[in-house]
Amino acid sequence: MTDVAMPTPARPVVHPLIVRLTHWVNAAAIFVMIASGWEIYNASPILPFQFPVGLGGWLGGALLWHFAAMWLLMANFLLFLGFGLFSGRYRRKLLPIRPREILADIRAALRGKLAHADPAHYNAVQKLLYAGVLGLILLVIASGLAIWKPVQLQGLTALFGGFQGARIVHFLAMSGIAGFILVHVGMALIVPRTILAMLRGR
Ligand code: HEM
Repeated sequence: MTDVAMPTPARPVVHPLIVRLTHWVNAAAIFVMIASGWEIYNASPILPFQFPVGLGGWLGGALLWHFAAMWLLMANFLLFLGFGLFSGRYRRKLLPIRPREILADIRAALRGKLAHADPAHYNAVQKLLYAGVLGLILLVIASGLAIWKPVQLQGLTALFGGFQGARIVHFLAMSGIAGFILVHVGMALIVPRTILAMLRGR
């Protein structure tokens, strides 16, 4: 009897190449921005503590890292966000975000029963976290520009209540992004299949 080779059905692409590339470049740029940002903060803390680690070795080195990664982050994030918005991906995958579904998913997560079997579909908590972090990245970029060029961009700096206000918003947005990364990487490690999908697309 001869074996008839059955073609394996092609699995659908969950994350197109541009999403995968920009996601990982975004992750790398954010890590460099946060680590060098902590070093910059340590040179003149706004709260009574310093970060135990940083990138750059000293203020001058950290600023070089921060400004280098800033251009990468801005260009890459524009692509990441632009594709998501204009291709309809965010409308399909992140909307609608319903408070009732978020509460139901939080309850399910606390019972260890949060549905995350299908990498093509985000649960309500993921939708909220992804939409939230996209907003936080916009805020961290805007407040960063206000701190970087407070004279040339004084309208923007004034929107944040001045230079110190922009520093505080920048710090809070960074804290939100760092909190997101902890939860996000934790959730991804619980379901490693989603990491493979973000690497291979399927
Ligand atoms: C090493 C760090 C990271 C890992 C392992 C990781 C992993 C993943 C995975 C596996 C997904 C797909 C989730 C799923 O299919 O259920 C995803 C999506 C996403 N991640 Fe990350 N991620 C990392 C860092 C980041 C960072 C730093 C950000 C932004 C601050 C970020 C923002 C996002 C967003 C917005 C999505 C949704 C993308 C879309 O579907 O269009 N990630 N990530």
